[in-house]
Amino acid sequence: MTYNHSEQAIKANIYINQQQEKVKNSKYRLNYHMMPPVGWMNDPNGFVQYNGEYHLFYQHYPYAPKWGPMHWGHAKSRDLVNWEHLPVALAPSEYYDIGTLDDHGCFSGSAIEKDNELYLFYTGHSIERDPMQVQCIAKSADGISFTKENQNPVIDHFPKEGSKDFRDPKVWQYDNQYYMVVGSKKDGKGKALFYQSSNLINWTYRGIVAESNGKQGDMWECPDLFPLEKEHALILSPMYGEKNEKPIIIFGEMDYKAAKFPQERSILLDYGHDFYAPQTMKDDKGRRIMIGWMDMWFSKRPSVEDGWVGAMTIPRELTYNHNGIFIQQPIEELKALRHNHHHIENIVINGVQSFPKLDGIATELCIDFDIVNSDSPVFGLHLRCSKDRSEKTIIKVDTINEEIIVDLTSAGKGESGVYKAPYSPKPKGKLNLRVYLDTTSIELFVNHGEQVITNRIYPHSSSIEVDLFAEKGKAKVLKADKWSLRSVWK
Ligand code: FRU
Repeated sequence: MTYNHSEQAIKANIYINQQQEKVKNSKYRLNYHMMPPVGWMNDPNGFVQYNGEYHLFYQHYPYAPKWGPMHWGHAKSRDLVNWEHLPVALAPSEYYDIGTLDDHGCFSGSAIEKDNELYLFYTGHSIERDPMQVQCIAKSADGISFTKENQNPVIDHFPKEGSKDFRDPKVWQYDNQYYMVVGSKKDGKGKALFYQSSNLINWTYRGIVAESNGKQGDMWECPDLFPLEKEHALILSPMYGEKNEKPIIIFGEMDYKAAKFPQERSILLDYGHDFYAPQTMKDDKGRRIMIGWMDMWFSKRPSVEDGWVGAMTIPRELTYNHNGIFIQQPIEELKALRHNHHHIENIVINGVQSFPKLDGIATELCIDFDIVNSDSPVFGLHLRCSKDRSEKTIIKVDTINEEIIVDLTSAGKGESGVYKAPYSPKPKGKLNLRVYLDTTSIELFVNHGEQVITNRIYPHSSSIEVDLFAEKGKAKVLKADKWSLRSVWK
């Protein structure tokens, strides 16, 4: 039996159009985060700017709120805030002369423009073919409909340093050459395999550009290697056996000649439960922008009952602050969502105090604590609280252990757990917390993006109240601002 790609894509689009009403009315629906029109969403793919617009593709199974043969969903935006869903860009499966390549899915990958055409690089995943994972291309001249290349696969076998887990090509251009990293595993170590091309079609294998130092997982998914100011950075999503773990960013000097990226230092990108497979792009303003899958494999997901699963984080700009510390900050454009501003300042908290002005479901909260003039060892916020406080999401500042804690023990339905990030106290004794709350998510930026903690939460829609608290002493709030954030979905 042969399948035609465009027929499969049309079939998926018809299904999506018929089914999306149920998701529009979902009580778990997010207000300002990218989410699928219906069905399942995982990794961001092909994040790119093309003809002045941002395009974001994603791993998508339209037919059920669970993982299945992967399609590439597609949306575009002029400002990375207001998104428009477009027809499915890639669908399995295609039979070529050499047999099937992607009968079980078009796995994760990236996008790049060349000669006004948009190229998608993806992993063809087959359960009928050996090797099961090969690298493929689909092209478009309008950024909407994509044709799979006859020359597929452009990389038809993993190299001897890799293995059959050989996926997630990320392509970039540097000094008039094209480069690609592909994630793989061998001998208990995750690896980034490195390729070079002058035309995007013929690729030369250059070796292992980076691999696990022994503590960074035995499989690397979704590697992304890119210049970041004066150095390079490599982002990867590690697996330890069957378990996916928190994505890492590694910094170092890239040696393109030697095809080596020696690790100088590495940190976790996000301390929350729901952040995986992030991908970056450089836009025409020169910014390095990252979006991650705001969910995780094998999570509890109440939105299944409404026919959808998965979302993307807000876009974050990656830079360094004036002390040279790597930071991630919500992109400027998000400010356009703000309305209904409230401001409070110079308040001393002792015990638990509610602040109706800070209440809400989809809000941005920005709080400066004065650590020097606070003697409470543990203080913070209760968010998305029910009236009786049996439901709440807790953010704690633990000044003894120098940790920021997001405690989801009574956050509602969904994954529970306690998520901790270290923080470094500032010389002037200020601590800044910026929280983005949406219907079913919380993204916390600590000290202007030095640490981030991202989680999905599923509280009751009536749980909207906010408390500030200080245990065993006083906490001083220098100022707190709240904005309601409007919905981007019409
Ligand atoms: C990461 C991942 C990728 C793969 C895709 C399949 O979440 O496992 O390695 O390409 O998801 O949907």
